[in-house]
Amino acid sequence: MILGLETSCDETAAAVVSEAGEIVTNVVASQAALHARFGGVVPEVASRRHLELISPVIREALDGHEVDAIAVTVNPGLIGALLVGVSAAKAFAWAKRLPLIPVNHLHGHVASLYLQPLDLQPPFTCLLASGGHTMLLDVQDRGSYRVLGTTLDDAAGEAFDKGARLLGLGYPGGREIDLLARQGDPTACEFPVARVPGLDFSFSGLKTALLYRVRDLTPGELEARKADLAASYQRAIVRALVERVEATGAERVAVVGGVAANSELRAALPGAALAPLPLCTDNAAMIASAARYTEAVPYPGYLSLDARPTA
Ligand code: KG4
Ligand code: ZN
Repeated sequence: MILGLETSCDETAAAVVSEAGEIVTNVVASQAALHARFGGVVPEVASRRHLELISPVIREALDGHEVDAIAVTVNPGLIGALLVGVSAAKAFAWAKRLPLIPVNHLHGHVASLYLQPLDLQPPFTCLLASGGHTMLLDVQDRGSYRVLGTTLDDAAGEAFDKGARLLGLGYPGGREIDLLARQGDPTACEFPVARVPGLDFSFSGLKTALLYRVRDLTPGELEARKADLAASYQRAIVRALVERVEATGAERVAVVGGVAANSELRAALPGAALAPLPLCTDNAAMIASAARYTEAVPYPGYLSLDARPTA
């Protein structure tokens, strides 16, 4: 049994996962409501909230279960937020004389596909689209991957969040746009799909295009056209993602990360293996899952282990 911890952004999460990849418990305390009034995650506020939540969240996830190892996200993410999880993991592992498994958050997202009942076997090409990253990965085995393409500017989730903010919707914006888009016409407005060479992505031009559209509207016009704008904007993001996936020519495709929860994206890739909805956004079950394919650091060698903001 592995206890996983995840605190890289604004979810305080702990989960217990078995060696076979069964989720025993999966607790996610989202801080989204706390950051909503700022329109995005405030790093210092996130760190302080993680500190308040980490012990009760771990207690709830453990729920009387005995564990054999502690897995924790060590990178990439907000450094202060990561440090709360890493410090808690060290303290817990050290007190129980257990090994500690340092996990990369992006590897965690991919490993959301390795949990039961999906239990996806490589090889496959993986689209990882979240609030912080947008990448195409070549996955040949469960322990590693090769980056085929990445975003040159904003991540897809960031494009959703910034777009939602321009439209006066709440944070996090992806879900808000997803819901509003269902009432709008996706062909109402033309948005540019960036043409960058190779398998890379670019979303900053799209965001600017929406900014100009919104700026030219009166408040009344914006209200009347909001759903159409949301639907057209979402269509442009989804089209950019799907085009790049298709450009790889891959037969076996998987999609993970917060944006994988998007209903239009899911419908646009009917043949793909999709991360289960509750495992798309940040959680600790995926971290414990990745830990099964990562080398553990035996007691007490991990006390000098550090969190890192970069991938
Ligand atoms: O993976 P995640 O929880 O955190 C990061 O690692 O960044 O992804 C969060 C991102 C946010 O940008 C959020 O707006 C987006 O995922 N998201 C969605 C949807 N649900 C969450 N984007 C589009 N449609 C959704 N339904
Ligand atoms: Zn994430």
